[in-house]
Amino acid sequence: MTRHTISATPTQPIEGQKPGTSGLRKKAKVFANAPYLENFIQATFDALGGVEGKTLVLGGDGRWFGVEAAQIILKMAAANGAERVIVGQGAWLSTPAASHLIRLRGADGGLILSASHNPGGPEEDFGVKYNMANGGPAPESVTDAIFARTKDITQYFVLDCADADLQTCGEVQMGGMTVEVVDPVHAYADLMETLFDFNVLKGAFKSGFKMRMDSMCAITGPYAREIFENRLGAASGTVVHGDPLPDFGGMHPDPNPTWAHELMAEMMGADAPDFGAASDGDGDRNMVLGAGCYVSPSDSLAVLAANAHLAKGYAQGLKGVARSMPTSAAVDRVAQAKGLTCYETPTGWKFFGNLLDAGHVTLCGEESFGTGSDHVREKDGLWAVLMWLNILVSTGKSVSQLLEDHWKTYGRNYYSRHDFEALPIDQANSLMGDLRAKLAELKGQQIGDLVVADADDFAYLDPVDGSKSQSQGLRILFEGGSRIVLRLSGTGTEGATLRLYLERYVGPEGDLSLDPQLALKPMIDAAEMLAEITKRTGRVAPDVIT
Ligand code: G1P
Ligand code: ZN
Repeated sequence: MTRHTISATPTQPIEGQKPGTSGLRKKAKVFANAPYLENFIQATFDALGGVEGKTLVLGGDGRWFGVEAAQIILKMAAANGAERVIVGQGAWLSTPAASHLIRLRGADGGLILSASHNPGGPEEDFGVKYNMANGGPAPESVTDAIFARTKDITQYFVLDCADADLQTCGEVQMGGMTVEVVDPVHAYADLMETLFDFNVLKGAFKSGFKMRMDSMCAITGPYAREIFENRLGAASGTVVHGDPLPDFGGMHPDPNPTWAHELMAEMMGADAPDFGAASDGDGDRNMVLGAGCYVSPSDSLAVLAANAHLAKGYAQGLKGVARSMPTSAAVDRVAQAKGLTCYETPTGWKFFGNLLDAGHVTLCGEESFGTGSDHVREKDGLWAVLMWLNILVSTGKSVSQLLEDHWKTYGRNYYSRHDFEALPIDQANSLMGDLRAKLAELKGQQIGDLVVADADDFAYLDPVDGSKSQSQGLRILFEGGSRIVLRLSGTGTEGATLRLYLERYVGPEGDLSLDPQLALKPMIDAAEMLAEITKRTGRVAPDVIT
């Protein structure tokens, strides 16, 4: 076997998009067009100070080009002197399972092949993300170093050898490196058994509890079948769209009411099961539903925080909680009632990592269908579904009852996010820039029916490492506790995506059963007056409402 040194033309694989909190995402064909992936992987290895003697974890969500990419990465890791790569069988690993495996095996890091909830297939997206030894996404210092290296890289190394057999569990040698193929599901399912009482959950399914889990033809299928159907005894067929497919069967594996519409229809229909859930491409996101009842992710986080002690792994209570800034303040009210500190971080899971590592928080979440705890360093879709299941079984309440009782205790934070996708980048930047310039003079102004109490561009000081993050979203807070937030997405692959977050608080004595879009109408109108979204973009309605 020869170690080939191939000269690489310095490339800038990022073109306006640095590998960020979610790694590098591009059209799959861009990655498949050698030496694009090769350059990026060598730049990653170089930025890490090389991988000689290191152990890495590798796997992805089953999307198109995943297996080919895994073979290339293995040959490059071998040529760069890595000692061992632990690969999920079939090059499969969900993001939370990869995070767990890195931690469990004490690996130096891991490469996750996924573009998360973006569609897959030859015409769709692919992505590569590097996670650190703590199991969490690489911090900005590392992704910046990778980006810098992509600009001056001159060569990459690849071993000239046959592909490894990734279908058979066990160890094979690739040059001096060991390729260890492991079952992608078992270690993760075992971890879930330490956090939840599987015997109690089993009993519920035995007594007729019905559930639907929509894995959207993405990676959680095999995990969900093992956990719900095999270990917990849920009826076979509980998991639908359970086979990961290279193009996700044409589905857009983003668990929200728009893209998980089949599940929505079933849960809103006459024969709805007790509990419904869906997860995204790489398994870190989740949506939960009850019969006739949708749970907004911000409410989900609050309900989990209020009831976490009912699950075996959280019986001691929580150390603290954290939410991203645009996530509603529903969890803040739970934290206040329980005497817990609630941290408000910028969007992106990496900001939770330091808080989790330092033991400041146990539970964290984002409005974008991401919830998790200190069991791994990624958000975790199936974990959240199990948490909900545990709470439903322990309380004996339905999802809608649980939500209603929660609002009667803490009040309700009506909440919605409006996304305007694929906007011309200049248009989106000038909309944000003009609003940013106005912020300082907004205080006290009447906007429609609302009066501005405060406005700023969110900045965050990390309490653990003292790092500062500026310009994380424009916040306009109105008198009475409602607010709007605007920010541009950092994960889109086409043009700019503007996200408008709307929130209104109604106390326990107020009207708790309004339609959220109606309840939020004054905020929607104020957003148009302030940011002129329709006037500037010509868009009369958002592309996605969650
Ligand atoms: C989106 C979500 C954010 C999440 C990220 C990665 O980022 O809004 O909460 O952490 O995906 O899953 P955005 O596109 O808004 O930058
Ligand atoms: Zn994801």
